[in-house]
Amino acid sequence: MSDLAGAMTDAAAAVDKQIDRLLQMPDGPERRVYEAMRYSSLGTGKRLRPFLVMQSSRLFAVAESCALRAATAVEMVHCYSLIHDDLPAMDDSDLRRGQPSCHVKFDEATAILAGDGLLTRAFGVLAAEHTHSDPAVRSELVQALAEAAGPRGMVGGQMIDLIAETTPLDIGAITRLQRMKTGDILAFSAQAGAILGKAPAPLRDALRGYGHDLGLAFQIADDLLDVEGTEAEVGKSVGRDVAAGKATFVSILGVERARSQARLLADQAIAHLVHFDGKADLLRAVARFVVERRS
Ligand code: IPE
Ligand code: IPE
Ligand code: MG
Ligand code: MG
Ligand code: MG
Repeated sequence: MSDLAGAMTDAAAAVDKQIDRLLQMPDGPERRVYEAMRYSSLGTGKRLRPFLVMQSSRLFAVAESCALRAATAVEMVHCYSLIHDDLPAMDDSDLRRGQPSCHVKFDEATAILAGDGLLTRAFGVLAAEHTHSDPAVRSELVQALAEAAGPRGMVGGQMIDLIAETTPLDIGAITRLQRMKTGDILAFSAQAGAILGKAPAPLRDALRGYGHDLGLAFQIADDLLDVEGTEAEVGKSVGRDVAAGKATFVSILGVERARSQARLLADQAIAHLVHFDGKADLLRAVARFVVERRS
């Protein structure tokens, strides 16, 4: 196993344990929403966002227990976004992480609530004292994730993404949409370590820039997998973008140019890491992985 694969596996295992701890099931009838939250957040998933939090935290010698809590919070937000993204009113996808999507396994109302539960629990985790001893740092994390996940970030991007099914968008508009829907959360993840470590602004900005370019590269790779991947490989419904007539980098540029654009963006992401020494090598490696991945 490469260093990167090993480190990603370790981060995924640590996050899984942490989610399990944070989502202990109560005995009452509300148990069903916990079952759905656990179903959609435990087990598989690349755990890329937590990995970025853990790796950026290493650059500033942040305590691992603090980094892990921030990493888990961002993964919970991500899992919520996937549950809602798969709903019939959005992408109407039946398969997620190799198993039936949350609304298929449970029902639509439970899936909506499970998403709401993961989103709100995530902010509770960030705001709790264990995440950082300094309340100003916790408040900054909460604000930054709210900004990245909210209407100026992911939620806004998801809105434009739905509009892209019926309205033609040019490459500039698609770039903006992808930055918002995917880039902002990845940029948050990459700079979370700098926030936790109270790093100086230029280093924080460098990580943010890295995360944004990585996010664009990542979403182009996702759009390519939607066209070229198989459900067995990627573990989720494929062909949904074309079926919905959605404007993506791939629909506009074609497969080959989209792939070279993704590679260029990965190089650009890596270039932002010039301030960091060998400690950032796994962040460099993951930028390459993101565009060459098959799942
Ligand atoms: C899928 O994200 C949704 C996008 C933003 C493209 P991932 O490809 O990171 O999904 P998991 O977490 O590995 O399942
Ligand atoms: C979803 O993008 C991004 C989110 C913010 C959830 P996609 O709709 O392309 O993600 P997949 O392909 O279903 O994972
Ligand atoms: Mg979608
Ligand atoms: Mg989708
Ligand atoms: Mg997709």
